Amino acid sequence: MTKLSVNINKLATLRNARGGNVPDLLKAASDIESFGAQGITIHPRPDERHIRYQDARDLKNIVKTEYNIEGNPIKSFMDLVLSIKPTQVTLVPDSFAVLTSNAGWDTIKNRAFLTEIITEFKRNGIRTSIFVDPVISIIEGAAAVGTDRVELYTEDFAVGYAKGDTASIQPYVDCAAKASELGLGVNAGHDLSLDNIAFFKNNVPHLAEVSIGHALISEALYQGLAPVIKQYLQKLQ
Ligand code: PXP
Repeated sequence: MTKLSVNINKLATLRNARGGNVPDLLKAASDIESFGAQGITIHPRPDERHIRYQDARDLKNIVKTEYNIEGNPIKSFMDLVLSIKPTQVTLVPDSFAVLTSNAGWDTIKNRAFLTEIITEFKRNGIRTSIFVDPVISIIEGAAAVGTDRVELYTEDFAVGYAKGDTASIQPYVDCAAKASELGLGVNAGHDLSLDNIAFFKNNVPHLAEVSIGHALISEALYQGLAPVIKQYLQKLQ
């Protein structure tokens, strides 16, 4: 079974546009869970342009399913995550000004750094995942740093699939198999949508969790959150 974790960054962006509390992020997170999502994901960035550090703390008391916090493990992020102790932390090498995550870790070059950070999170009982491109040597490097899971960065698949290039799935199939063989759990995310999720799920083995934000919230503008989540759950069965 593949779990759906809904990334609620976009709801925070909408709220922040007016400075008040509409939409109510905490209520939305609860509702998303009640509509069947098996997790909530947030990606607090240092400039707090969408999720604020206080949101991350407040959500700890709200999220009853799996709570996943993504981000670059700078000191303030590490302190935040260690104080909250979510179900999972997903480490992403995004630079300060980047619009959205746009690269995976080089697990070979960053071996010592990642090993140290992952050890610290695991010592605190937090499951670790690292965002990676679908490259076999990078997956092998991920196993070497001791992470529990990898999150496969799915933008290349999504772009290829939208153009009819179904072969763009192959690196993900190979890397998921390799990750599983090495004892790593497999997550995936970025640019997944109602259009491409079934193809991804049906082809990529061992898929434990997908985290989906931008497309899901955009689809919900037309259909509503409850029906959209229901469709994702059906496609992930
Ligand atoms: N995974 C990571 C590491 C991300 O940074 C994001 C976007 O914040 C996602 C998954 C979700 O991507 P999308 O918003 O395109 O569904």
